[in-house]
Formats: sequence, C-alpha cells, structure tokens
Amino acid sequence: MPPRRHRPGLAWQTALATTAVAAVAVLLAGAVSFPLIRGAAESQARATLGRQAEILAGAPGLLSPANRRIDRIFTQQNIQVVVLTAAGRETGVAAGVLTEADRTALSADQPVSRVTRLGGNRVLVEGRALEAGGGVVLVQRESVVGGVAASGSRRILVALLIGLAGAAVAGVVLARRLARPLQRAAAAAHRLAVGERAVRLTPAGPAEVADVAEALNSLAGALQTSEGRQREFLLSVSHELRTPLTAVQGFAEALADGVTTADEVAPTAAVILAESGRLERLVTDLLDLARLGADDFRIDLDEVDLTEVLRAAGTVWAARCADEGVSFTLETPSAPLPVVTDPTRLRQIIDGLAENALRVTPAGSPIVLAARADGGDAVVEVCDGGPGLTEDDCRVAFERSALYDRYRGVRRVGTGVGLALVAGLVARLGGTALADRAAEGGARFTVRLRRTPLAPVTPAPAPPRAGIH
Ligand SMILES: Nc1ncnc2c1ncn2[C@@H]1O[C@H](COP(=O)(O)OP(=O)(O)OP(=O)(O)O)[C@@H](O)[C@H]1O
Ligand SMILES: [Mg+2]
Repeated sequence: MPPRRHRPGLAWQTALATTAVAAVAVLLAGAVSFPLIRGAAESQARATLGRQAEILAGAPGLLSPANRRIDRIFTQQNIQVVVLTAAGRETGVAAGVLTEADRTALSADQPVSRVTRLGGNRVLVEGRALEAGGGVVLVQRESVVGGVAASGSRRILVALLIGLAGAAVAGVVLARRLARPLQRAAAAAHRLAVGERAVRLTPAGPAEVADVAEALNSLAGALQTSEGRQREFLLSVSHELRTPLTAVQGFAEALADGVTTADEVAPTAAVILAESGRLERLVTDLLDLARLGADDFRIDLDEVDLTEVLRAAGTVWAARCADEGVSFTLETPSAPLPVVTDPTRLRQIIDGLAENALRVTPAGSPIVLAARADGGDAVVEVCDGGPGLTEDDCRVAFERSALYDRYRGVRRVGTGVGLALVAGLVARLGGTALADRAAEGGARFTVRLRRTPLAPVTPAPAPPRAGIH
C-alpha cells in the first residue's frame, strides 16, 4: 500500500465547511436581527412613554407638586416630566427640551413624539396636550432602549449559537456518512492493487459515491476476466511453442546420437527446418502483437497497386488450397487499385485471414480472395465455405483469444493471436476490419483501407475493436 499522505480527510473538511457556512448564516442573521431588535425596542419604549404621557394628560391632578408618589415612579424609570402651562411656561428638570414646533403642536392639541439630544444624551420625548391648554411632556434617556435591546439580542445570540452548534454536529454526522462509503471504496482499491480479485462493494451513499463503488466492482470484474484470458493465452502459447520444440529436440537428439541413418538425415533436417519455421512465425506474431502499440513499430508506406498485391497472394493461396482440395477464386478489378500502404503488412493481413479460412474450410468448399474499389476506399475480402461465425462471434472476432477460446476443441485452431494481430495491423494502416457471414456459407472478413491520400497513421492505435465497425 502506498504511504498515506497527510491530507485533511473528507469528513473533517465537510464538517468544517458546514460549520463555516452555518457561522456565516449566524453572522448574517445577527447583523440583520440586532438593528431590528433595537428598532423594535425603541418603538416599544416610545409607545410606553406615550401611554404614560396620555395618562398624565388625562388626569392633570396627578401632576400637582404635592403628589410625590408619581414623582418617585417617574424618577425610578428615569423619566423627567416637563409641564407646559397654558401661559407657555415650562416647569420640570428637563425644561428647555421643547422646541417651538413642539409648543405649536401641543397648543394645537397634537401629540409630540421624537428623539432628540439633551445634555449630550439621546432622549425620547413624548408630549400630550392638556385640556386646559399647554401640555405634559415626558423625557426618557434612550439608554433604556439599549438595555431592552441588549437583553433581546442576548436571547437571539444564544439561539443563534445553539443553532451553530447544532449545524456543526449535523455537519460532522453528515460528513461521516459521506466519507464512510468512500473509505470502503479506497480500501477495496488497495486490496485490488495487492492482487485480491474477489473484492466487491455494495453501492451505498449518494449517487456519485455509489457510482464509484459500481465502477470499482466492474474494474475488479474486468481485471479478473483479463487476467484469466492472459493466463489462458500464456498456456496456449506455451503449448504451441512446446509442440515444435519437442519435435526439433527429438529429431536433433536422434541426429546427435547417430541413431539417424544417412538416408534419414535429409528428411530429419527438413522436419527440424519446418518446425523451427513454425516457431519463428509464432514468435514473430507474438512480437508484432506486443509491439503494435509501441512507437517504434515499423510501417513502411508506399504507393502500391492492391490488384498486384492480391495477385501475388493469390498465386500462393491457389497452390495451398489445391493441396487441400479446396477451390480457390481470385477476384480483382481489371484496372489497377492504387493504395498508399505498407505492402508487407498488408500481405501479413491477407495471409493471416487466408490461413484461418483454409484451416476451417473442408475439401470441395470454396475460398474467395477479392479486391474492389468502394467509393474512397479499397476493400479486400476473404470469404470461405467453412462453418462460419455467429453474430456474437463477429462482435468479438478481433479480441485476442476470444474465438480461439470458443472453438478450441471444436475446430482446428492455431494460437489465437492471428485475428488480434490482423485488427491491430489494419488499425495501424488507418483502416477497419469487419467479420460477418459470406455468401459462400462460411465467414467473410473485410478489410477496408482508405485510398490516397492516406490518413495519418497514429502511433498508438486503440485496441482491436469488436467485429462490426
Ligand atoms: N474464417 C473462419 N471461419 C471460422 N472460424 C474462424 C475463421 N477465422 C478464424 N476463426 C476462428 O477464430 C479463431 C481465432 O483465429 P485467430 O486467427 O485469432 O487465431 P488462430 O488462427 O487460432 O491462431 P493463429 O492465427 O495465432 O495461428 C480460430 O481459432 C478459429 O476458431
Ligand atoms: Mg489465425
């Protein structure tokens, strides 16, 4: 397992983020609600002061200097009483607070309600007219409002802090829930990395996190399949290598031990030569297949006449087919069919397909090798009268070992490398390969190459795709 870097975890970061968001919300709520609370407290204080002024105005007897109780009540509340007599004289500690506008309002039987400054302090002023003329005015320091607002704000602040704590706890719980399936996915990935393949996860959590679990499950499945294929492939390749090797070894030992008679030397050498040729072909195919994706894979482009390439191949395959009693037909256009391609690689492709066809086509059945122009493309076809391929076979035909695995023990097979190599080479030549059914009753393999100008050849082609392109 790679050393774990010390980065803050998702749970921690999510908890931090939710708490930060909640803190911002608390700050905003505070910033909005504190002025509102203060405004509400001020209008409440003014309304109360106004009501008290109304009571005094309605019962002027309460204002008599002999009524000390009233005086005490107002003093306790920090309220100063100013009386404006009908003659326009002001009495009281806060005398002088009234403006000309206040006097006019009171003499017109209008209430006075305002906030002003008195002796360096902000004060609330509420005045009501007396029936007998003049008025009574109550003056109260605004600091009373501050006290009420502060106690309201304190309560709001406590509520906000409780909300913040709740949000932080909820954030931690949520973050843990989010992080747990991801932690499980990471652990599963580490187990995959050390070679465990039976790892499967139950998708859980939000859709995206469940997707990660499903992706890991399919990755584990794909790894299992591909490693299984790899094992099968190695087994089949080593088997294929061992057969000619055993023959070469056996005959060489016979030669070395002097068991082989003089007459048998030449046929023995011929067998050794043929078997080592098979070995060489197999090793070359394997090397080509392994190097297909590498930058140094050689493609020598040249302008070639496809008709000519097919005629040359046709001569060889006509003879091979004749040996097996298979009827061979070559169909080429009468005019040259110029293509910019690598003729050696193209021949390798044709030979691979023809070899396959000949291996499965019974004596008396046909093999057709054809070339034709099709719009901007040049097309090569290898058709046979063999057992053919199913639709599903055609879809996977160019995947390494796919058909080989299906037909080993059922049909004659080679090593399962050929079609993957064909598809890889065709891709490197900028073309496409397709497998389907032939009119002759067997399989048809079609290679489509672009005629001049050739598309740029990509150094690393996509892996061979399914049969239908
Ligand atoms: N024309 C065909 N008709 C029917 N089956 C075919 C045909 N061509 C290929 N196949 C099937 O596909 C399998 C894979 O072919 P492929 O060329 O990849 O490998 P191979 O011929 O078995 O071995 P190699 O080409 O490496 O010698 C073959 O074993 C055969 O069963
Ligand atoms: Mg083959």
